[in-house]
This record gives sequence, C-alpha cells and structure tokens, in this order.
Amino acid sequence: MGETHFSGLPQGGRGRILHAAMIVTTAELYKVAYGKFALGAYNINNLEQTNGLFEGCKQSEAPFIIQLSKGARSYAHKQMLEAMIRTAEEIWPDSIFAVHLDHGDEASCYDCIESGFYSSVMIDASHESFEKNVEITKRVVDRAHAAGVSVEAELGMLGGVEEDISVDEHHACLTDPVEAVEFIKLTGCDALAAAIGTSHGAYKFKGQQSLHFEVITGIRDQLAAAGLPPTPIVMHGSSSVPKDEVLRINAAGGKLDPSACGVNLDEYLPAAKLGVTKINIDTDGRLVWTRVHREYFRDHPEQFDFRPPGKIFMKEYANFIASRNEKLGSARQLNAVRESLAAAV
Ligand code: G3H
Ligand code: 13P
Ligand code: ZN
Repeated sequence: MGETHFSGLPQGGRGRILHAAMIVTTAELYKVAYGKFALGAYNINNLEQTNGLFEGCKQSEAPFIIQLSKGARSYAHKQMLEAMIRTAEEIWPDSIFAVHLDHGDEASCYDCIESGFYSSVMIDASHESFEKNVEITKRVVDRAHAAGVSVEAELGMLGGVEEDISVDEHHACLTDPVEAVEFIKLTGCDALAAAIGTSHGAYKFKGQQSLHFEVITGIRDQLAAAGLPPTPIVMHGSSSVPKDEVLRINAAGGKLDPSACGVNLDEYLPAAKLGVTKINIDTDGRLVWTRVHREYFRDHPEQFDFRPPGKIFMKEYANFIASRNEKLGSARQLNAVRESLAAAV
C-alpha cells in the first residue's frame, strides 16, 4: 500500500518522533502496519513486564505498543511507569514503540494528553448511548489532535470486565458497521475499538469460537463506500488463554476454571490483513506470571527471595512476547518502520 492517510490522524504537529530515541506516534505505526500485520499492544504494570516486553520485541525485531491502563497508572504510579519506559528506551535503544492509554475516561485522557508523554489515548465511552459516546469522544479528539496525540474510541460492547465496568454477556453486542462509519465521521477518531466477538479476561468463549470477520470487513467496506479513508480497527480481549498454562496454574495450586478459552492465535493475521491493526494482549501475560510464580514457590517452599522467579518470568515473558509477535506478523517489521520514518523526515 502506498502513502495511506488515515482519517483524522495528526500530520506533523509536535513532530513524528515524540522523544529523543524511538517512542513514535501510534499513527506512524498504523501507517506501516495497516492491512499487512497487527501491532501487539501489551499492558505493563511493573519492572519485570517492562523488561520482558522490551527484550521480547528485541528478539523478534518487532515494533510494539505499550499500554498503560488507569489501574496500572494508580498501581505503579504514572510517573514510575513513565520513568521505567524512558529508562527501557535507553537500555533497548533499537526499540520502536508507541505509548498508549488503555481504557481511559475523559479525565485520564486529558491528563495523558497534557503530559506530553503519550502517543495516543483510548476514550472508552462505549457504555454510553451512541449520542453521548459521540459527544464525549469528539471532545477528547479535539483536545488530543490539538496536541498531536491520536485517539482510539470504542463502539459496541465487549463482554467481560473493563476497569470497574462489568458487561455481562447479555449486554455485550457486536459493532454495527453502518453505525461505526457514522461514529468515525462524527468523532474524527483515528482508530476504532470494535466488538468483534471477543471479551476481556480468561473466560471469553464457551468452546472455541471464531472472530466475527464479517464485522471487520463490514466496517472496511462501509468506510470505502462512504468515500472515507481506512480506519485501523483495534481488537480488545485478544488473549488466547493457552490451555496448558491454565492446567499448570491449577496443578500448582490455582483454581482457574479449566474451561477458560481465548482467541485462536491463527486468526490474528487474517484479521490484521482486513484492517485489525492493534491487538490488545494482557491476560495471557498475567497467566505466564501466575504460572511461573506458583510453580516456583511450589517447588521451592523454603524460598522467600522473589528474584529467582522474577528472573524466570522476565525470560519467559520475553519468549511469550516474541512468539505472539510472530503470530501478529509484527516480527521482523522494525526495518519497515525505520524506512517509513526516514522517508517521512
Ligand atoms: O482491558 C483491560 C486491561 O486488561 C487492563 O486491565 O484495568 O486491570 O489494568 P486493568
Ligand atoms: P485480554 O484480557 O484478552 O488480554 O485483553 C486485554 C485488553 O483488551 C486490554 O485493553
Ligand atoms: Zn481492552
């Protein structure tokens, strides 16, 4: 695909590269990835996840998106997270990534926009009426674009738990492509979190189910029919919830429901080719952490030093990230991003 301009993406503004090294705008990453591969958007809360994430993306030569949720910003402190990311940027100088607020409300979006640190924010007003969602999202888009920050908005309801809002299966509903085009037109959002059949957490499906590809193609086709540029789609609730991980956690004292089930990893890339450009993964990383720590302390009951399991976790998390990047198609795409950045200067 040649030079693609997505709707509403801030062009220029404070500059394409936000910081000294390689924190880039989310828009830059979307431009390279759209229709070809998906960017892994990984949540971090602590030092071990941060180190594992940077190392795994180095191993797989992948660009990536770091997501900070409201919960993470209050758990670790927003300044601590920013300091960790800036330090990781120095330790892994070849990395290229964007920093994103995950599931923000209006107040947290404005805080991140004004901080000057974030590449993009997500305003999640999907629990509101269509009109109210548009109104809130538009306000955030206006403030964000004025600062060169891009905005992800959500339409449709995923099942599961988002921050402090719980959506039961009955109320979860798929995104309507016609409504999605209207929403994008009215708000000017840069990426759309669409409900395509997934949900947050470990219990997504009863038995294996497929993504709703017809919703993805529906949005893409309706946008084209309306003469609008393509808008990257974001898939939330994308963890695969590996069965062996659940079984190992339970064998080491956990009590997870063994019917836990997630997204088929082989559906990441087909979805990416249709426009799903950001794929959010958090739960799978939590499962790696829980399995490593439960097994370690089961096998070493005399131990109380947290560094040995921490070391195992960082290595395993790096391998996990690298393996997910292979499935997303983002592995070995660093050069394509570098070339695009160089061409844009
Ligand atoms: O979608 C939510 C993410 O998994 C973040 O979870 O709000 O518990 O940090 P959290
Ligand atoms: P999972 O719970 O499937 O990892 O989804 C994470 C997510 O959507 C973060 O926004
Ligand atoms: Zn989410």
